[in-house]
Amino acid sequence: MNPNELKAMVGREATAYVSPGMLVGVGTGSTVNHFIEALARMKQGIAGAVSSSHATTARLRALGIMVVDANEVESLEVYIDGADEIDHRGFMVKGGGGALTREKIVAAMAQRFICIAVESKLVPTLGTFPLPVEVIPMAAKLVARRLRALGGEPVLREGVTTDNGCQILDVRGLHIADPLAMEHEINQWPGVVTVGVFARNKANVCLLGTDQGVKTLNF
Ligand code: 5RP
Repeated sequence: MNPNELKAMVGREATAYVSPGMLVGVGTGSTVNHFIEALARMKQGIAGAVSSSHATTARLRALGIMVVDANEVESLEVYIDGADEIDHRGFMVKGGGGALTREKIVAAMAQRFICIAVESKLVPTLGTFPLPVEVIPMAAKLVARRLRALGGEPVLREGVTTDNGCQILDVRGLHIADPLAMEHEINQWPGVVTVGVFARNKANVCLLGTDQGVKTLNF
């Protein structure tokens, strides 16, 4: 199967975690787009969705799925999203699509994070994929210096402004052996909006697309 077929397979499989009347937290990215298509086929049965980006909101609405403002919702049973990397504990690197801040907000509202990903995203240690860090533009250089001091090589994502009017630094060269500690550390720096390590809001389940079918990992 090619990567797109694997993504479509896990996107469809994720609908098993959606029950009648549910408000669903919906992530961002090419894998989630397949989930949104599958969700649209059962849209009469759900209450709506809380979205993690302008792009996802547009896609949900185009397919007739009602989008509910996060501030109108107290909690969600599930949040379904992709990842750039996931390890064997359910810790992830996210933000390749630039939506990390809103993704982390919706993930924090949910009782369970269901990650949908192709097999190649499963890694022994996070850090090969460049770690996205969303920053307030004024702090970009300050944060970049601190990331270099940690051993990383940050590069500004050129021409990108996030849904929050901010910038993204993509950081190569970090070996994220302790995701909880790294998330905690970088999150505290002035000017950092969100770091793309999802450790506190890690996955509870990963639906992994393989040539042999969907493999379910429970964390
Ligand atoms: C967007 C994300 C995505 O979940 C991540 O980049 C994976 O995307 P894709 O499903 O296209 O591989 O974090 O900010």
